[in-house]
Amino acid sequence: MRKLVLWIALTSLAGAQDLEMRQGGKALARFSLAELKKIATPTTLRLDAGTKNYWVVPVKPLIEKAYGPKAYGEDITFLFVCRDGYRSPVKAEEIRVLPAYLAFSTSDGKPFELEKKPLGPFYLVWDSEKYPERKLGGNWPYQVVAIERANFSQAYAATLPPPKSSAQVKHGFAVFRKKCLSCHQINGQGGSMGIDLNQPASVTEYIKKPYLHKIISDPSTVRGRATMPALDATFPHREQAIRDIIAYLEAKAAQRRKASKAAKPGK
Ligand code: HEC
Repeated sequence: MRKLVLWIALTSLAGAQDLEMRQGGKALARFSLAELKKIATPTTLRLDAGTKNYWVVPVKPLIEKAYGPKAYGEDITFLFVCRDGYRSPVKAEEIRVLPAYLAFSTSDGKPFELEKKPLGPFYLVWDSEKYPERKLGGNWPYQVVAIERANFSQAYAATLPPPKSSAQVKHGFAVFRKKCLSCHQINGQGGSMGIDLNQPASVTEYIKKPYLHKIISDPSTVRGRATMPALDATFPHREQAIRDIIAYLEAKAAQRRKASKAAKPGK
């Protein structure tokens, strides 16, 4: 009997379109779709010249309902947790300033899927027609089941610039965090659309610097069929920003070499 009750509880949970709000590894709240629609007003969003049409709720009111109006901060990141455990980090500032939405169905009767992959329960989308910096086809997590509020410096400690880094390395990291970390890992932390750029070998060790600069600027100038997007043409002080990213990647490579030497004394 107890088993049956548990089974009913579990299956009804699994089937529902719920969103869990977490902090410090614990669930703070769980919103059903009906609750989400009460907290944040649903609207339709038209993307990709009208070929993709979704019913969405804005993310900001959900965040503020769960974590309060002081949910944001320089060191805060929101991890969009997908069904398979993948976590896509988004800076708190971006959620505060840019219009992020959770899509929960299509608004044109098409199946709620992309290239045959189901998008539900939730799909993080941005109004990329108004805000082209959030490119359609950038890293938009789907099958989102939870949002987790985390301190970036704890959750992504292995990506931080080494202690006592120069201002250039620190700035390179700030740009990297904003433009690259959602797809790439450093020492196993970050997104998984691209490769880990620091281990086992760093891109600064096996790609000549002028080519590394070109790949970061626009991969299609070096490689055919590259899927990585070019850095936005309008990125402020673009050339210097790329040099700063490379300085950050070099600093992480040097830090790793130093650590592996220390681990193997006498070599
Ligand atoms: C939307 C996801 C995405 C973003 C954002 C992204 N990359 Fe990539 N990157 C990739 C993928 C995927 C590859 C593999 C090659 C390809 O398909 O273009 C790659 C390849 C690379 C490579 C070549 C590595 C090798 O060994 O061949 C470098 C270097 C690189 N990325 C650096 C960066 C930097 C620096 C940024 C930020 C300015 C960045 N990438 C942003 C997805 C991304």
